[in-house]
Amino acid sequence: MAYRLYEDESHASLYSKFRPTYPPKVRQVISEFIKKNGGGFQKMVDVACGSGQGTFHMADLFKQVCGIDISQEQVHQALEKSKQLNIKNVEFCVGTAEKLPFADESVDLVTCAEALHWFHETTFYSEVDRILKHGGCLAAYGYGHVEAKHENVQPLIRHFLKDTLKGCWADRIKHIDNCYAELNLPYEKLERYDFYSEEQRRLPDLIGYMRSSAAYRRYSELHPGNIVLDELEQQLHKELGSDIPKEKIMIHIQFPMFVLICQKE
Ligand SMILES: C[S@@+](CC[C@H](N)C(=O)[O-])C[C@H]1O[C@@H](n2cnc3c(N)ncnc32)[C@H](O)[C@@H]1O
Repeated sequence: MAYRLYEDESHASLYSKFRPTYPPKVRQVISEFIKKNGGGFQKMVDVACGSGQGTFHMADLFKQVCGIDISQEQVHQALEKSKQLNIKNVEFCVGTAEKLPFADESVDLVTCAEALHWFHETTFYSEVDRILKHGGCLAAYGYGHVEAKHENVQPLIRHFLKDTLKGCWADRIKHIDNCYAELNLPYEKLERYDFYSEEQRRLPDLIGYMRSSAAYRRYSELHPGNIVLDELEQQLHKELGSDIPKEKIMIHIQFPMFVLICQKE
């Protein structure tokens, strides 16, 4: 495995708190693709599930759901959330995308959300092919870099992501930059969907999201004690209304979203 990110306890907890969940459109396009191509809804496996961002929103479509992640801490966060949400048909386990602990031809849908670019693709695809039933589907989806819908704020966010964190992004992040345009999924029957997901976020939560990025973790290793995110928060606060407490400032943001889904014959 080439990349080991998002795995320690503090990172997993930041991740769980600040990472976005997925808009209803993701589940809609996936379920429509499965239905129109005659796939089933018995068992779904969410690979690299993190703290369940891509697992829980799909759970009621399937009889049985399993989230799997290489990180014990991420799985711990997912189990905690599962208890809070009281979802009964979802289980989680620790494991890798390259050696999936499921029987041959036993799964209707494999998903991986914001994660395929971290895997050893060919090994993952052969595991997917082994565990999928005939007619089963693989969905790989995710989101690109956050954008602010405020004209005066977007350049500050862009500067932080592109210039301040320059050199701290893993090379595979290029696949997120181009929304998986260069990743080839393994089956010919394939569709892709692109759209934006918009939301209003509190300023401190947007800063929390930035803090949860692997690139900022890398930046902090190189610059311990840095205050770049505090500075960004102050700048955004100034632009958006410094007379209002920062906890009350809401920022209109969007993420470019992409969903690729394909079907095994
Ligand atoms: C960016 S997070 C995505 C988490 C979640 N799916 C989401 O949508 O937010 C990437 C996740 O992939 C996991 N991961 C990375 N490489 C993995 C691998 N080879 N097998 C299983 N999990 C992996 C990490 O532990 C992390 O939880």
